[in-house]
Amino acid sequence: SFGPNIFVESQWLPFKAAIDSHLNKKWSATPIINGQAINEYEVDGVTHQLDAQPVLAPWNHDVSAGEVKYANAELARQAIDVAVAGQSMWQNVAVTKRAAILRKIAELFEENYAELMALCQVEAGKTMQDSIDEIKEAVDFCRFYADEAERLDDVVHEFTDLSGKPSRQVYKPRGTFVCISPWNFPLAIYTGQIVAALAAGNTVVAKPAEQTSLIAHFAAQLMYQAGVPAEALQLVTGAGDVGGALTAADNIAGVIFTGSTQTAQRINQSLNDHAQASGELPVFIAETGGQNAMIVDSTALPEQVVRDAVLSAFGSAGQRCSACRILCVQDEMADDLIELLQGNMAELSVGNPLYAATDVGPVIDADAKNGLEAHIARMDAEPTATILAQTPMSSSSVVSQENSTFVLPTAIEVSSIDVIGGEHFGPILHVLRYQARDLNKLIDAINNTGFGLTMGIHSRIEKTVEHIERRAFVGNTYINRNQIGAVVNVQPFGGCGLSGTGPKAGGPHYVARLMQLSSESNGS
Ligand code: SER
Repeated sequence: SFGPNIFVESQWLPFKAAIDSHLNKKWSATPIINGQAINEYEVDGVTHQLDAQPVLAPWNHDVSAGEVKYANAELARQAIDVAVAGQSMWQNVAVTKRAAILRKIAELFEENYAELMALCQVEAGKTMQDSIDEIKEAVDFCRFYADEAERLDDVVHEFTDLSGKPSRQVYKPRGTFVCISPWNFPLAIYTGQIVAALAAGNTVVAKPAEQTSLIAHFAAQLMYQAGVPAEALQLVTGAGDVGGALTAADNIAGVIFTGSTQTAQRINQSLNDHAQASGELPVFIAETGGQNAMIVDSTALPEQVVRDAVLSAFGSAGQRCSACRILCVQDEMADDLIELLQGNMAELSVGNPLYAATDVGPVIDADAKNGLEAHIARMDAEPTATILAQTPMSSSSVVSQENSTFVLPTAIEVSSIDVIGGEHFGPILHVLRYQARDLNKLIDAINNTGFGLTMGIHSRIEKTVEHIERRAFVGNTYINRNQIGAVVNVQPFGGCGLSGTGPKAGGPHYVARLMQLSSESNGS
């Protein structure tokens, strides 16, 4: 639910009390190597303590969620060594047992939903709806990838040569995977990457985004409690330097990464450089950004378009790679649609994510806020762009805009896609008018951004929908609905071009990509 007209406050009441009981907790996060929480490390016989950094809530910097200790390159290497040494143990655990552990993780996430929701709200600034969705998606990943591992274990391709001798092809684990996950889905994507690799029989070194280490640490503890062996999963907290140390290791089988396109390109380069040294190119799966458009023709239903565009652009404070960044409206209906959009945005509630009525919470940190506000200022100064609407902080919100990282939801009319200048990862929606005769040029301009993640299409003409779908270069298309919130095993998710390598998360090729197909021929 999103926006005041759809919102039903009573549905949250049973959750609220359970979550509130955790809100004043102070969590802590450390690296976890071979099952041990790491507080210190040794170099040349000298012991060093890891510094503890405070974790402040993005919606109010006076609220502390706890503290985190970040790993370093030395600990990253140790974590890889433990995981690599644990590979033969974990790959020999029966698939049914591995799947059972994943299903147990799902159960423990459900049992601990209140604490996980509190963590998503306090550390990541997520609204209640987003926190619930986060847990549901994580649970879905565990159950789906458990099923996938069992399905692939039964897949045996059989062949015969001309003389009738049989050979077969089976799926096998690959080795240790480094899983680098983002702060915008600190539980769902973090868990999805880890459990997919574990399901495949691979050991894992997980490096969650430094902004959401507390959630990652708590979830890792639940994974161990569910039966994941200490050797099979290492947690390496830290920032890009630590990620760089992990992806430079010369004994990993692959990297699963979700984050920016630039970081994906750096990792790819590092794996390539490393491959030239060791001769083996690790598997690389990247899910990155998008410059996602929603194309609306004059047959679309305006109220529905606005509801779906607002949810797609401002839900999760626009911090989804799937989010709608450009609302492309056929000129004939643009004025009416913009008026409806302004009215709808005025009704959004922006503020404290702990309030059940909040639609839009903060962005993740000061860097994100500064970058987004700089873009809004640039657009304001740009002669061919016009600010159409900006939703103020909700008057019932007690948080201050200064002591937090809120960015006001903003709609900006632009004259072309080029003016926007790349992806802006937050609550900013660009609106672009187009003439019906220029539809192909519009689709080509969207394709020419190089990204290809999601696209929304609003039209009641089937032929137009089919035409746009055929011409557009995107991974996920959504017709006459919003364009976010792909559901595991319903809308396998992932893009092409600058948006990622595939295979799609939550789809039938993901676990398979983490395994190798081995052909076996018997001469006797
Ligand atoms: N899986 C998410 C979504 O579909 C990606 O950001 O919104």
